[in-house]
Amino acid sequence: MTILVETIEETRRRIASVRAGGRIVGFVPTMGALHAGHSALMERCRAESDFVVASIFVNPTQFAPGEDLDRYPRTLELDLDRCRNVGVDLVFYPSIPEIYPNGSDSTLVETPGLTRILEGAARPGHFRGVATVVLKLFNIVQPDIAYFGQKDFQQLTVIRRMTTDLLLPIEIRPHPTVREPDGLALSSRNRYLSARERSTAPILHRALTRARDAVVAGLANGDRVRQILRETLESGTGVVVDYAEVVDDRTLEPLTELTGRRAIALVAARLGSTRLLDNLYLSE
Ligand code: PAJ
Repeated sequence: MTILVETIEETRRRIASVRAGGRIVGFVPTMGALHAGHSALMERCRAESDFVVASIFVNPTQFAPGEDLDRYPRTLELDLDRCRNVGVDLVFYPSIPEIYPNGSDSTLVETPGLTRILEGAARPGHFRGVATVVLKLFNIVQPDIAYFGQKDFQQLTVIRRMTTDLLLPIEIRPHPTVREPDGLALSSRNRYLSARERSTAPILHRALTRARDAVVAGLANGDRVRQILRETLESGTGVVVDYAEVVDDRTLEPLTELTGRRAIALVAARLGSTRLLDNLYLSE
C-alpha cells in the first residue's frame, strides 16, 4: 500500500519504525509530474531496498525569478497512480513552510566549485536550491540509498559531492537516462514543446551519439568533439545552443585531451522557449 504523508513528523515516525526493524530505506526525490524516467528510478529503488520513499515537492528555491515555477506541471493524482503501480511505500508531499520554516534563504548549501559552470552559469543559484532541499529531504527521510537520474548529470555530481563533503551516511546511486524511442530524454518539460519542436528535439541525442562514435573511433581532441556537438545541434531548425561541453565526470572540468579520462559530453539547447538538457559518456 502507498501512503501519502504531508508532515515531517509523521514521515519520521513511520520511517523510524521501519528502520527499527532493520530494513533498508531507499529514497527517490522528485518534483512530481512523474514520467517513465521517474518510474525507472522508483522501480530500481523497489528492487534494491525494503522500504521505498518518494518525495514530491516543487522546490521554489531552485527556480530563478522568471523561470517556470508557476507553470511547472502539478499532477498529484496521476503521480500517486504511478507511485502505486511501482509499489512505493510512502510518498512525502510537504508544503513550502514545512520545508522552509525560517524562509527560503535562512540556511543554504553551496558546492561552489561545481556550480559556476554549465547549468550553474546559465541558472545562478539553481544548484544551491537543489543541494539545500536535498539535504533537508535527506535529514527527514534518512535513507540508506538515494537514487538520482544521470539525465541531470551536474545535479547528480553536486549531490555526490555534498554527500561526501558533509559525510552523509547515504549511498548515492545514479540511474541511466530513460529515453523516447527516437532518443529524446524524458523530461517533465517536454510537454512544453510544439509538434515541430518535438520533431527537432532528438537532435540533442543525435549530437551526443555522433560525438561518442567519433571518440570510440579514436578522436581524443576535446575541441574537435565540442565542434561536432555544436555543428550537429545547430543543424536543427530553431535550435539555440546554450553550451556543448566535454568534461571530466567527477570534477566537471573541461577536457582538452580525452585519453585516459572519464569524459562526458553535456549539452543544453533552447527550442523556442523550452530549454532541453542531455548528456552521454564518451567512452564505453
Ligand atoms: P525532477 O526533475 O522531478 O527529477 C527527479 C529525478 O528523476 C532526478 O534524479 C532526475 O535526474 C530523474 N530523472 C528525470 N528525468 C529522467 C530520465 N529521463 N531518465 C532518468 N532519470 C530521470 O531533479 C529534480 O526533480 C529536483 O532537482 C530534485 C532532485 C527533486 C530536488 O528538488
